[in-house]
Amino acid sequence: MEPVVLDVGSKLVKAGFAYPDQDPSMVFSTAMVKTKDEESDKAESEDEEIVLEDVVNPISRGIIKDWDLMEDLWRYIFYTGLGWEVGNEGQILITEPLLTPKVAREKVVQVMFETFNVTGFYAVEQAVLSLYSVGRISGCAVDIGHGKTDIAPVWEGALQHNCVKRMELGGEDLTKLLLEEFTKKNSERRLDLATAEMLKETVSAVADDYAAVIRECPVEEHILPDGQVIEVGQERYMVGEAFFQPSLLNVEELSIVDSLFRCVSSCVPSENHRQLLENIVVCGGTATMPGFDARFQKEANLLATPSVRPAVVKPPEYMPENTLRYSAWMGGAILAKVVFPQNQHITKADYDELGPSIVHKKCYS
Ligand SMILES: Nc1ncnc2c1ncn2[C@@H]1O[C@H](COP(=O)(O)OP(=O)(O)OP(=O)(O)O)[C@@H](O)[C@H]1O
Ligand SMILES: [Mg+2]
Repeated sequence: MEPVVLDVGSKLVKAGFAYPDQDPSMVFSTAMVKTKDEESDKAESEDEEIVLEDVVNPISRGIIKDWDLMEDLWRYIFYTGLGWEVGNEGQILITEPLLTPKVAREKVVQVMFETFNVTGFYAVEQAVLSLYSVGRISGCAVDIGHGKTDIAPVWEGALQHNCVKRMELGGEDLTKLLLEEFTKKNSERRLDLATAEMLKETVSAVADDYAAVIRECPVEEHILPDGQVIEVGQERYMVGEAFFQPSLLNVEELSIVDSLFRCVSSCVPSENHRQLLENIVVCGGTATMPGFDARFQKEANLLATPSVRPAVVKPPEYMPENTLRYSAWMGGAILAKVVFPQNQHITKADYDELGPSIVHKKCYS
């Protein structure tokens, strides 16, 4: 049985057996619906009517916040989604966002061995895996997801811990911005968050020259799933612009490109800067917005020097079309093909001997 690769994000679960030439077999929402009978802990035999209560998410800004829910989600993925059988579980590679607390790492490995009886475990930072997905071991990853953005220089497979930046900004902030802009212009109409998100994913784009585009931007009509017709104008570009001008989100941050350059400039030795900046992977769902990579490259060109020509790199042709959307998972699938056959992972015997703290010794760069 192939190892399972698991990248559970703030919005989307990406899970599947490690086949790096394919998309993850499961991609679905991390959010779950909590039912009343779950909460009151009643036995199923009491035949209580299940009342939909609330949508809950075990992950916020990339970090696990509700461990019970997370366990339910993992259980669903392993036994229902991927078909593991109780008593015959397999190996697992888990992706992790930047700056995950040590206790959280230990808890993950503990639950995997003690609750799910995995036969082998490995965990790696998403940024390192994203670089692997484009065939690099040195370079920079800029992963713009739903709840957070990870900016990370990586040298020969090792995260440059002192130079990384985690921003609590992601697609969810862009959805809220679109909703706010829409509400300002259409005070009498209501749009829910899910519809605003769908609209964002359909219409938003990044302009090559924002000031010029918003001067001439036509207003277009869009039909929502419920039949409502709405008008969208310059806000479709404003959403994409927010990572290049974070003041649009009312936050005091450098632009995404300046943030990356600042991270790299703090990396030593400076001879490495060229290779770091000439191998930038811009990935994650939010960065798949049309025009994002081209604008990133344009802004990075402005910071070029005679010796460093920054370059946003693309995945090799043999990788699947959605590689940048699922880059952490893809890199995990590539790495799993090496780690488990070469016995670099944590085995059950390792875990039984040394306990959860073994994760700090055996995993991570
Ligand atoms: N075409 C698009 N235009 C704009 N945003 C998009 C597009 N496609 C996907 N997104 C956004 O990408 C985000 C999901 O990306 P991703 O799967 O990388 O996040 P995640 O891994 O769940 O979250 P995180 O890594 O932040 O914990 C959502 O906010 C989604 O709305
Ligand atoms: Mg992610």
